[in-house]
Amino acid sequence: MATIEPRFNPFDPAVMADPYPYYRRMRERDPVHWNDTLRIWFLTGHADVAGLLRDDRFSADRTRSERFRPPPPHRRRPGRSMLVLDPPDHTRLRNLVNKAFTPRTVERLRPRVEAITDEILGRLQHADGFDLVANFAYPLPVIVIAEMLGVPATDRAVFQEWSAVLVRGLDPLVSEEEQERVFDARDALLEYLRGVLAERRREPQDDMLTRLIAAEENGDILSEGELLAMCNLLLVAGHETTVNLIGNGALALLENPGQLERLRRDPDLIKTGVDELLRYTSPAQWTGRVAACEVEIGGRTIRPTQTVIGILGAANRDPEVFPDPDRLDLGRQPNPHLAFGRGIHFCLGAPLAHLETEVAMPMLLERFPRLRLAGDPELRPTWVLRGLRRLPVAAA
Ligand code: HEM
Repeated sequence: MATIEPRFNPFDPAVMADPYPYYRRMRERDPVHWNDTLRIWFLTGHADVAGLLRDDRFSADRTRSERFRPPPPHRRRPGRSMLVLDPPDHTRLRNLVNKAFTPRTVERLRPRVEAITDEILGRLQHADGFDLVANFAYPLPVIVIAEMLGVPATDRAVFQEWSAVLVRGLDPLVSEEEQERVFDARDALLEYLRGVLAERRREPQDDMLTRLIAAEENGDILSEGELLAMCNLLLVAGHETTVNLIGNGALALLENPGQLERLRRDPDLIKTGVDELLRYTSPAQWTGRVAACEVEIGGRTIRPTQTVIGILGAANRDPEVFPDPDRLDLGRQPNPHLAFGRGIHFCLGAPLAHLETEVAMPMLLERFPRLRLAGDPELRPTWVLRGLRRLPVAAA
């Protein structure tokens, strides 16, 4: 049996394969953990992680960290998004798009989400087997966010690759070579977005890009760099997160046939089920903050400019909050999981991700009553966003 490392080494392949036993040992032995090599604090308890995300003594601005390295001079510094800004800039940017993502506005998309799901499933109708990630989990959120923004969904083959490289840039430790690939992908995606925005300026449409351009043109609300950063954030978030929830969620159900049967018999269970799949699979495993002043957590002193990572995946399995935390229970209530974060940066897309999964899962199970695993699932090699590259299933 593996013994616990004296330091949490998130890059240990054993952690990637199955992080939960590791997280449990950390939470039990060293819940506020300092890794001196990485110079990062790691929090694993629910109360500590929720506290970190609500605490305004911590900043979301990564450039305030002692670990921050500015991009090399030959790379342009793009505008920054709300995800990495503090108030008042964060508030100003979030307010510009908030309305489009409220539960009420998003609920109006339900018929369209059902129609897209139906169309995707229709294409798979006669397949004996398929890759559930590439053919189901991926296209649905991508088509939805492309339609909302007003980016041609037919271009998705082009930006799919860039966005997959970009998420690697979220991980705290990447090689120089990989970092260069991240910069290349970012520049290519920004160039692509510049083209789409120029087209919208010439021919306004009834979409979010057009409304954001109007905000930019109306004065000081939004700079051009911020406009690009916003489009980039929404597009990448729409590509790289819900796909993991649907993919990881489908795998969790296939590995827990009792829960899958429960959901088949009672499709309404998906209402609490989505939150349980979020808690159980934590598609975003970590998020980070930077201490703006000295802060004490669990008797340890965090110094200004130090980076603190809240491990959402660990907090979501904290037995103090979730009885029998390693059990998937689609009816679990209450379920105060942290999969969407907490506080002012709470996921803007949460109602949309919720709706998409609430529609997708029952429709998938209804269309394929004999759905089962047909090979080994393959994980993507990323740490912050945890998801599958491939999920082979048999349907006939
Ligand atoms: C299952 C799917 C998703 C998960 C697990 C997820 C997770 C998260 C988490 C944990 C945060 C907080 C990060 C932090 O506090 O540092 C966040 C923020 C954010 N998410 Fe999501 N997300 C999902 C889907 C989406 C979608 C579909 C969109 C939009 C299209 C989206 C847009 C955003 C934005 C814009 C923020 C930044 C909010 C802010 O800084 O105020 N997310 N997400």
